[in-house]
Amino acid sequence: MKKLFKSLAIAGILGALMSPQAMASGDGPKNAKNYSFSFEGIFGTFDRAQLKRGFLVYQEVCAGCHGLKLVNYRNLAEPGGPEFTKTEAKAIAAEAEVNDGPNAEGEMFDRPGKLSDKFVSPYPNDEAAKAGNNGALPPDLSLITKSRSGWHGSLKSLYLYSLFNGSGGPEYITSLLAGYADDPHGEEKEGLNYNPYFTGNWIAMPSPLSDDGVEYADGTKATVEQQAKDVAVFLAWAAEPKMEERKKLGFMVLLYMLVFSVLLYLVKKAIWRNVKH
Ligand code: HEC
Repeated sequence: MKKLFKSLAIAGILGALMSPQAMASGDGPKNAKNYSFSFEGIFGTFDRAQLKRGFLVYQEVCAGCHGLKLVNYRNLAEPGGPEFTKTEAKAIAAEAEVNDGPNAEGEMFDRPGKLSDKFVSPYPNDEAAKAGNNGALPPDLSLITKSRSGWHGSLKSLYLYSLFNGSGGPEYITSLLAGYADDPHGEEKEGLNYNPYFTGNWIAMPSPLSDDGVEYADGTKATVEQQAKDVAVFLAWAAEPKMEERKKLGFMVLLYMLVFSVLLYLVKKAIWRNVKH
């Protein structure tokens, strides 16, 4: 019986160490460079300046093809994110054209965006998006760092690896954006671009970044890799705007449980003190 418990316990611990991506086979782990980001680990937080830079890259480069439909403009001014001022976020929202209505005449109309609006997607629907991109669909980026998380390789699929090195999602996005190259065999494919990090190696998205393609207000040099990292971090925030809150709460809960366990232990000792056992 004891043996059975022991093996069950070991299986449990091993199971807990496996990452969910590793257990759910399929699309997860990708070959990505292990970039280190400030928000990794138990206490990691986002770098506000980096989130602001990443937003700029998204806005000026990616937003032409990719939507971010689960994020509201007001999120840009909320704690835990890029923390633009409310005035800045309002100005950003107002640049977007939101289709609204119907008005009193029953007609739809365009108006400037408000804080309560969601990010306006570049295309009205998937068909239009495909038609604008030679038949390939640019996915909405709201949850992309989550849907592309996971690591390649057996050791890396352990949960502990992700705990210290990040989920792999933002690393994959960075690797992908900074990883365009010529095909090593000199091959070319019509409408596709060689990228060793993309599954199948041929991606319909042309390399979107170029050195100094954007100009950073904080003076950071806008290399391709820098922009790739910044936008990946911005997208990691977009996928989990409450990450900092979650980590703080998680830590407090653990602390509470620790204190509570000690108290329970002392209570148990006190109750059983005079009982022979
Ligand atoms: C000219 C349009 C265009 C621009 C600009 C663009 N993309 Fe894409 N992107 C696409 C298309 C099309 C696809 C689908 C590619 C495919 O399925 O082969 C795609 C796919 C992706 C993917 C998914 C890759 C995968 O693993 O499936 C990511 C991530 C991505 N883009 C991020 C970005 C980011 C970040 C930017 C801005 C720096 C950006 N894209 C700019 C058109 C674009």
